[in-house]
Amino acid sequence: MAPQSTDTARPAARAVAPAGLRQRRMRETDLPAVVAIENEGYAFPWSEEILRDCLRAGYTCRVLDDRDGVCGYGILSMGAGEAHVLNICIDASLRGSGAGRRLLYWLLHRAQAAGSEAAFLEVRPSNVAAVRLYESSGFKQVGLRRGYYQAVGGREDALVYRLGLLEWPEPGVVVTAPLPGEP
Ligand SMILES: CC(C)(COP(=O)(O)OP(=O)(O)OC[C@H]1O[C@@H](n2cnc3c(N)ncnc32)[C@H](O)[C@@H]1OP(=O)(O)O)[C@@H](O)C(=O)NCCC(=O)NCCS
Repeated sequence: MAPQSTDTARPAARAVAPAGLRQRRMRETDLPAVVAIENEGYAFPWSEEILRDCLRAGYTCRVLDDRDGVCGYGILSMGAGEAHVLNICIDASLRGSGAGRRLLYWLLHRAQAAGSEAAFLEVRPSNVAAVRLYESSGFKQVGLRRGYYQAVGGREDALVYRLGLLEWPEPGVVVTAPLPGEP
């Protein structure tokens, strides 16, 4: 997963997800908008080339859009019964409105439907918003990669999380309604 922003300040007034929010396949023509959100969302963003490679590799690449255009995206790879959430990023104006959770759940449902038995991801310990999102979704920490991420003035570890998809959602995890959009 791309290095995460360390900005975890919760907006004073939570944004409201637009009623027209939907998900669809990412296209190459979305890349300028995706790159802009990526650059704002991360201190060490992925390049446009990396994002294009994800599309060309056939990963599950989805964008969220509303009337104003692309406002978030998620990237998932699948293979050998495992899924890997490689990136999930929501435009700053929409954070805190539930969009990230709904997009994550859409990706997990997609992985489940494709027969993946588990989903994995890496996250910076300093990325409090993302860690809370993943833990409240049922992900459990299963490892630590020392010095995995570039960081200001050095390196930062990655927490490795796993979610068993055969038993997901487990009791206590409330799964929000799937986002409408393309199948
Ligand atoms: C992490 C991210 C995807 C979450 O998306 P979001 O749309 O803001 O999240 P949601 O509104 O769906 O909130 C889901 C949960 O995340 C946690 N959360 C979200 N914002 C938070 C914040 N500012 N501080 C603490 N926890 C937060 C909460 O647990 C929240 O659940 P709750 O509303 O029931 O309390 C978003 O902050 C983002 O795009 N960050 C920059 C890119 C990034 O770091 N991606 C993750 C890479 S591992």
